[in-house]
Amino acid sequence: MRIRLEPRGTPGGDPVYRQIADQIRSQIAVGTLAPGERLPPIRVLAGDIEVNRDTVALAYDELSAEGLVTSTVGRGTFVCAGAAPPVELPPKFEPVLSTAVERLLGFERTRPRYASGDDGVSMHALIPDPELYPVADFRRALTRVLSDDGGKLLQYGGPQGHAGLREALAGRLRQATVDVSADELVLCQGASQGITLALRLFTEPGDAVAVEEPTYSNVLAALLALGLRAVPVPMRPDGVDLAALEPVLARPDVKLFYTIPTFHNPLGTTTSLEHRRELLRIARASAVPVVEDTCEVDLRFRGRPVPSLAALDDSGAVIHLFSFSKSLFPGARLGLMATRGRALEGLLALRHASDLSGALPLQAALDDLVRSGAYDRHLSRLRRTLRARCDALTDALEEQLSGIADFVPPDGGYQVWVELPGIADTRELLPDALRAGVSFAPGYQFLADGRASSGMRLSFTQANEDALRTGVARLAEVVRARLATRPDAPGSTGVHI
Ligand SMILES: Cc1ncc(COP(=O)(O)O)c(C=O)c1O
Repeated sequence: MRIRLEPRGTPGGDPVYRQIADQIRSQIAVGTLAPGERLPPIRVLAGDIEVNRDTVALAYDELSAEGLVTSTVGRGTFVCAGAAPPVELPPKFEPVLSTAVERLLGFERTRPRYASGDDGVSMHALIPDPELYPVADFRRALTRVLSDDGGKLLQYGGPQGHAGLREALAGRLRQATVDVSADELVLCQGASQGITLALRLFTEPGDAVAVEEPTYSNVLAALLALGLRAVPVPMRPDGVDLAALEPVLARPDVKLFYTIPTFHNPLGTTTSLEHRRELLRIARASAVPVVEDTCEVDLRFRGRPVPSLAALDDSGAVIHLFSFSKSLFPGARLGLMATRGRALEGLLALRHASDLSGALPLQAALDDLVRSGAYDRHLSRLRRTLRARCDALTDALEEQLSGIADFVPPDGGYQVWVELPGIADTRELLPDALRAGVSFAPGYQFLADGRASSGMRLSFTQANEDALRTGVARLAEVVRARLATRPDAPGSTGVHI
């Protein structure tokens, strides 16, 4: 028998004994508790659901008064014969899921598990530190827009989204030399929705999509969900291998190329102007659209910005994605797509068919935040913090894992990619690292086939400088301990017994 109490009470304020009686009554009514079946002893049920024995006794008394149960001293409480009409329970319904979703479930099972709520040093997630969210600014912006425009903002917004925010973002993009108007922008639910919409715009199930390898792991999930195949193209220190990309994009089954040119996830790298120009030449020559994901572009803390692919393209080959998830907070679920012509037309129809529109009040509040200057002030603070955290992390790596780890400090964003040539599969380090109180994102999850990787992504967004130093010290211990068990470790005979 299963009883679930509402931890905060029921909306009608029913006493606890009545919640218990109601649930037993329903179970008798539907036949889950059959006539003649014994209810758990008062003491046992009270212990299970953590209430006083008198409370359970009151519930049983109420059911007994209704003639649904009967109690015999020494034997217990039983469901009365005839308490409910005999019911045929339907056979358990086992839905058949689509092949795509079965594959997706298989992929989900391979993801690393991180226990929530432990007090270890978190270096696995690319989620901004909640301590840094400009909550007060956002609250003021939301209050302001609701007082000024409440009625209008609480309606459907249309598939394109809040005109003011689109204007503001188009202005920012133009400053970054992207030739775009507010009419060519679509606000979406984070870059995630943008990715899915772009995939749906250009592909049929069974098609292939070229992705960088490694790449953002949720793109691999999105491909599986839509019945698409990933065609991985290896990454080099300067970006995707263009010589390998060219024949891939020439394949007739490859319909799209997804790339993260700035502060790549997971590698942290940013490609050069020349690399971007050549990539666009290849994509245009093979008539394959390019989805450019620029989630972390506002998080540059050193060096000069490189024009985005969208800024370099005047042919309409690029679908440009941006999101406020990394530069502000992910909870507003606000992203942006920029495209034009037929692609824009198709996108608006798809968006309308998917979810009609985004949330106008949130879009209006972000418009206020951007126009008031609060977003830029927040970005300045965030970049300073990220730079300090990145330096603390890379200095600690230098000190603690010198000669063991290879990495290139990034110019912005949230992550450093670390190669450990002595470790064949960093996934195997993770349980020890979690026990030691530090987490990281093992490299296998960014590879389409999930094979072993000697790389790991370390994020410097969640932990402060001291915590990062502690985290690296813990990680270094785990790595050194693992290296010491290798057959070729110093002192080992190399003989397997
Ligand atoms: C490269 C990249 N694209 C998209 C996303 C998803 O972002 P959003 O919250 O905007 O959906 C992430 C999140 O980690 C990301 O790293």
